[in-house]
Amino acid sequence: MASSGGRCDSSLLRGRRHPDGSKVPCEDGRVTWFETPDDAASRLERTGYLADPGLATTAFLAGRLEKPLLVEGPAGVGKTELAKAVACAADAELVRLQCYEGLDEARALYEWNYKKQLLRIQASGGEESWGETHDDIFTEEFLLTRPLLTAIRRDQPTVLLVDEVDKTDVEVEGLLLEVLSDSQVTIPELGTVAAVRRPYVVLTSNASRELSEALKRRCLYLHLDYPDADRERAIVAGQVPDLDRRIVERLVDTVGRLRDLDLKKAPSIAESVDWARTLVALQVRTLDDDAITRTLGAVLKHASDTERAVKELGLGS
Ligand SMILES: Nc1ncnc2c1ncn2[C@@H]1O[C@H](COP(=O)(O)OP(=O)(O)OP(=O)(O)O)[C@@H](O)[C@H]1O
Ligand SMILES: [Mg+2]
Repeated sequence: MASSGGRCDSSLLRGRRHPDGSKVPCEDGRVTWFETPDDAASRLERTGYLADPGLATTAFLAGRLEKPLLVEGPAGVGKTELAKAVACAADAELVRLQCYEGLDEARALYEWNYKKQLLRIQASGGEESWGETHDDIFTEEFLLTRPLLTAIRRDQPTVLLVDEVDKTDVEVEGLLLEVLSDSQVTIPELGTVAAVRRPYVVLTSNASRELSEALKRRCLYLHLDYPDADRERAIVAGQVPDLDRRIVERLVDTVGRLRDLDLKKAPSIAESVDWARTLVALQVRTLDDDAITRTLGAVLKHASDTERAVKELGLGS
């Protein structure tokens, strides 16, 4: 079962189910991910993920249209968490492909288990023809499946998270295209493996490089940014319920002011939540200038940013 920051409890979720626990398919035999944008918002909220109407609508559409969802935005605004929350809300398994420079087909799609193949060739002792051996060693038994193929072959509801796709080389996008547009993978020795059940696909990107037009064309696009103050207060209060409401207000207000400064790394939602946890751990009762200065390390990660914040927010005086 996928988890969303440890808050995923399937007993809280309201999927439409048969008495035996299996999902109720809609009329054309497919499983509905979300009934409406409102349904998406409320089910995501039950996992602890607060979505604004735009996000909820796109999350609903990605399921209804069976289109991959490309989520772009700065670090720490909830891109990865969205995929985890969808999996949790829909009681689906999360299959994750973490992208990095140098990621290749063998890590993303599948590879052959060469060691096992070699052992089989040795065991045959040269008694079989090469054709027979070849047919034998390029079979299911010798296939090592990687996340993309795993997600395609699952017959249970699956969320496929292709995380930080901008970190890979552009060639990897080529590998993704077949999976994204046709939900299938072609293995030359075995043929085409088509999805039994299309996964709900979420791709995330920090926009560190421009993604190819071919990839973007296949996806719905969502730009995630810092939330407004109301939503951020609700997110912080939801995740750190022990923090006093007035401190949450001052915290969110201060984070907002820090974002307006020209910093190397503006604080994200992740930092707001970390800061809130820090304040609870320190049992801070009032978030005054002194308490802010003492705990800025939870929010800002560059010495020059801290210096600037202390100066511009008048904390040192
Ligand atoms: N809408 C939201 N509702 C609840 N929590 C949220 C929301 N958005 C972000 N968070 C919190 O912010 C944290 C960071 O989110 P996440 O890891 O998804 O960021 P990200 O956008 O993937 O960042 P990066 O680009 O660095 O990977 C989450 O663990 C979660 O606690
Ligand atoms: Mg992420």
